[in-house]
Amino acid sequence: MSHIESILHENRSFHPHPEFQASANVAGPEHHQSLLEQAAADHTGFWAELARQHIDWHKPFTQVLDESQAPFYRWFYDGELNVSVNCIDRHLAQHANRTALIFEADDGTVNRVTYQQLHDQVSQLGNALRRQGVRKGDRVIIYMPMSVEAVVAMQACARIGAIHSVVFGGFSAKSLGERIADAQACLVITADAGFRGGKTIALKPVVDEALNMPATDCVRHVVVYQRARHPVNMVENRDIWWQDFIAGMPSVCEPEWMNAEDPLFILYTSGSTGTPKGVQHSSGGYLLGAIMSMHWVFDAKPASDVFWCTADVGWITGHSYVAYGPLALGMTEVIFEGIPTWPDAGRFWRMIQDHKVTTFYTAPTAIRSLIKLGADLPRQYDLSSLRLLGTVGEPINPEAWVWFHEEVGHSRCPIVDTWWQTETGSHMIAPVPGALHTKPGSCTRPLPGIHADVVDEQGNSLPHGEGGYLVIRRPFPSQLRTLWNNPERFRATYFPAELGGTTYLAGDSAHRDQEGYFWIMGRIDDVLNVSGHRLGTMEIESALVSHPAVAEAAVVGKPHDVKGEAIVAFVVLKGPRPEGEEAARLSAELRNWVGQEIGAIAKPDEIRFGDNLPKTRSGKIMRRLLRTLAKGGEIDQDVSTLENPAILQQLSVAG
Ligand code: PRX
Repeated sequence: MSHIESILHENRSFHPHPEFQASANVAGPEHHQSLLEQAAADHTGFWAELARQHIDWHKPFTQVLDESQAPFYRWFYDGELNVSVNCIDRHLAQHANRTALIFEADDGTVNRVTYQQLHDQVSQLGNALRRQGVRKGDRVIIYMPMSVEAVVAMQACARIGAIHSVVFGGFSAKSLGERIADAQACLVITADAGFRGGKTIALKPVVDEALNMPATDCVRHVVVYQRARHPVNMVENRDIWWQDFIAGMPSVCEPEWMNAEDPLFILYTSGSTGTPKGVQHSSGGYLLGAIMSMHWVFDAKPASDVFWCTADVGWITGHSYVAYGPLALGMTEVIFEGIPTWPDAGRFWRMIQDHKVTTFYTAPTAIRSLIKLGADLPRQYDLSSLRLLGTVGEPINPEAWVWFHEEVGHSRCPIVDTWWQTETGSHMIAPVPGALHTKPGSCTRPLPGIHADVVDEQGNSLPHGEGGYLVIRRPFPSQLRTLWNNPERFRATYFPAELGGTTYLAGDSAHRDQEGYFWIMGRIDDVLNVSGHRLGTMEIESALVSHPAVAEAAVVGKPHDVKGEAIVAFVVLKGPRPEGEEAARLSAELRNWVGQEIGAIAKPDEIRFGDNLPKTRSGKIMRRLLRTLAKGGEIDQDVSTLENPAILQQLSVAG
């Protein structure tokens, strides 16, 4: 671990505003401390009590945690519930007419949906899915634009016990097809197209192409929501319009009672191999994590807050803090179809003003790009409704943090920098904003009931100040249960034998400062974080190598001032190394190729061609050297094991 050193020295700290603190759900350090102590004294009892208080159980659980098959943990495992009932029905008695969703379309059109209306739409779709033969445990793929219907689709699956797998609308046909095949889905829910930044983004044609791929004949039906009047080809007996699908369906739908451990969804994410992992979440534990983090970290006030998480439902953030968490608390939330920079870079600030948003949760990459496009733009809008800000997905640099605090939060709103992952389901390390002071760039301290630690290769806890592996030592309710179809990969990736087999290895490095605050330093595996999106270097490499002209490829990240990380690909062709215009033409071709293989988010920012890659004598690519070259740095590392030192000179020149 000696090479993991912290280079960040940030000393500023910000205390909760007294007004905020006075009304906070966890008001002050003593309250926070007492939660931490309760959790420490009785880990399972602490979570059990919260699960009883915050979830409506159809059949209450009597068992809390089963560790007998560790690391395949089970929580609340004789309890029964339905997640959609917890997100919708339980609010109807008192708040049927409360707005659940405020949807703002790309063109600015606004549509509001009350809890009663949401209930009716979810029930209709749930009934229609059942009529089509979709049963508990069946997999349904959702490939939709940001829309009310995307949330309805997820909730309808939850209602009938189908396992949804949402695929981000920016993924290519190939990525979609692979996920359909891996999940063996029986039905796909999509739209003709969506709108983003004034452009029409076709979706149904991508589904058609995906369904031509091998092992996708499991799909019997495709339900198509008509969003854009985009011309599409409807396949007879397979494809059906959403409107026709739900026509005449009753707006009452008996929920499927699910065991707490029944899977709620699968969400594919990148790892260090070429194939994405199907992260599988439970019903009960996952829901509890989403609820408690809404309460502790977002300080949720359902009656008065307007909550806005800008994430797409294609990512975990859009699951926990768009589709489930806010609804489980009965909140009013904003959903946005478009992009932050269209029609201009004031879009977010205007929407905060128009919808009187109180809680605004976004990604550092969005903040950095908006600073660049108009650091003083927020001043043109009334942002006085805001009371809490949050960030997620990547480390936030202190400059962006301070700008967000001053220009958007008017030095009044706490910022919650939330560290978590697809796999953890909900926030793990994050400020409890009425209790903790914050420091720009630190996600502060683990939440109550989360035993995070920083350890060396043997799993020994490291002293404060030393960098090491970020782990979570005790099981927690919202953690992934397994990887779909791949329990062995689950065990090997997250619970390595070297750490004892029961400690969760997050895949990040971190250190703690003298106060015990956590600072995330980056990934320890071959995973890049581009604009807050996780991308495996191996996935991009496999995509490049599948191009007929490419013999070999290695992909690394380099720091980027807006995106956090940019993708640099080192490529060896089967033919001679291209130069000049030919190199430019091939670069463009390979970028598009990766766009088609994976999706536009994975296109390399830069491609460098070489006659070879730097390798050890045993043939292993020396990625650390490539990382240095990508940054434009001088190689001062030990290259004595390098087979072909001359290659470094060739690859050091940016294309
Ligand atoms: O490296 C960490 C980074 O994002 C990874 C998880 O990515 P994903 O599963 O796509 O989930 C993103 C949304 C939860 C982590 O392993 N990451 C996430 N949040 C932070 C972060 N890095 C630093 N600070 C954060 N707040």
